[in-house]
Amino acid sequence: MIRDRSMIPEGNLDWPLMRNNFTRADLDAVIEFLKQDDPVLTQSTQVQTFEEEWSEWLGVRFSVFVSSGSAANLLTMTALKYTYGLGEVIVPALTWVSDIASVIQCGFKPVFVDINPRTLGMDTDQVLQRITPQTKAVFLTHILGYNALNQRFLDELRARGIPLIEDVCESYGATFCGRKLGTFGLMSNFSFYYAHHMSTIEGGMVSTNDRNLYETIRMLRAHGMVRESSSDDLKRSYREKYPDLNPDFIFAFPAYNMRSTEINAVIGRSQLKRLDANNKIRTRNLELFLSNLDPSKYFTDFETVGSCNYAFTLVLKEPNQVLYESVTRALREHGVEFRRGTSGGGNQLRQPYLKAIVGEEECKKYPNVDHVHFYGFYIGNYPGLEKEKILKLCQLLNQLPGE
Ligand SMILES: Cc1ncc(COP(=O)(O)O)c(C=O)c1O
Repeated sequence: MIRDRSMIPEGNLDWPLMRNNFTRADLDAVIEFLKQDDPVLTQSTQVQTFEEEWSEWLGVRFSVFVSSGSAANLLTMTALKYTYGLGEVIVPALTWVSDIASVIQCGFKPVFVDINPRTLGMDTDQVLQRITPQTKAVFLTHILGYNALNQRFLDELRARGIPLIEDVCESYGATFCGRKLGTFGLMSNFSFYYAHHMSTIEGGMVSTNDRNLYETIRMLRAHGMVRESSSDDLKRSYREKYPDLNPDFIFAFPAYNMRSTEINAVIGRSQLKRLDANNKIRTRNLELFLSNLDPSKYFTDFETVGSCNYAFTLVLKEPNQVLYESVTRALREHGVEFRRGTSGGGNQLRQPYLKAIVGEEECKKYPNVDHVHFYGFYIGNYPGLEKEKILKLCQLLNQLPGE
C-alpha cells in the first residue's frame, strides 16, 4: 500500500481492500491498558467484558471470544457434534474454507447447495429439499453483508426441528426484519480479522442464547477443561463423578486451545464503540456503488434491505470473458485491490481439499456459485472511502468494452 499519497500516480485510485481499520483511539486504549504495573495479559476480565458488551450489542445472552472466526466455526461444529451427534450438515458451496473444513474435521458429512444470486447466500429452497433424517444442522453463511434468511425458511427449519448455525463473519450489523443476523440461529459465528467490519487483529466470537452450548463452548475453547465452565452446578457434577481427579484438571472433551488475549479484547472493546457509525457509512457506500453501475453489464439486483457490507460485490451480469478481462485490467491499472470469486475464492468444490473427497465433477452442479467464481469480484468498502472515488470507479467500469 502506498503511504505517501503525493507519490500516487495520476489516475490511480489508491483503493485497498481495507484502510485504517485500527485508529489512534484503539492504539491509545492498548497503551493505556499496558501502562498498568504487572497487567494480566492472558484471557481475563477484558475478554469477559468484551463478551458481555458484544452480547448486548448483538442482542443475545451469551458470547465466547475466541482466537479467530475459523476457531468459532470449529468450536460450533464440535459443540454440535457433542450435543446432537454425527450426521449431515448442509453447507453452501460459496463460503469460507473453514465453514466446510470444520464440518469435515468434526466427522460430519457436508451436503452442498447452490446460492441465490440476489443474496449470494444459500438457495433456501434447495436447503429444504436436501434435508434428510440424517441432517444435524444447516450451517449458513451470510455472504459479504447480505442477509440470506427468509421467514418461510426459518419456519420450515423450526417445524422440522433442524438447528440453524449462522456464519456472520462477513455480515455483522446486517439485519433480517429489523433483527440482527446472528440472533436467529442456535449458534452464530463472527470474525474480527483485519479486513472485516471491525478487528481485534485476529479474533472471533461464538454467540448463543443456549446456556448448555455456551458452557460447552467455553470448555472447548480451553482444552475441554471443566473449570472453564461458568456453571457451579456443572463443575460440582464433574467433581462428584470423578473424585479421583484434581478438580482443576478435569477434561470433559478432547478439545483445543482457542483462547484470545486481554490485548485483543481491549482493541475489540474500543472498536465496538464505533461499529454502528462505520456500518452506516458502509451501507451508504454500497448503495452509491450499486446504483451507479450499469445494470446491463453488472448484476445490481442484490437484496440490499438490511444489508451491511464491508466489500462491494461486483458480479458480471453474463458470463462474458472479454468484460471479465477488461475489469481485471482496469482494476489493476487504477490501483483498486480486489479478490476474484468473493472472499472465499468462489466455488469451494473446485478446491483440491474438497475434490479429494467429492471428486472432480461435483463442482459443476452449482451454476450460480460457478458464475460468482468466474465472474465475481469483491472490492474494499471502508468508512473513509471517498464518494468521488466510488463514482469514478463506476464510470470506469461502465465504459469497459464487453465485446
Ligand atoms: C464467511 C467467513 N467465515 C469464516 C471466516 C474465518 O475467519 P478468520 O479469518 O477470522 O478465521 C471468514 C474469513 O474471512 C469468512 O469470510
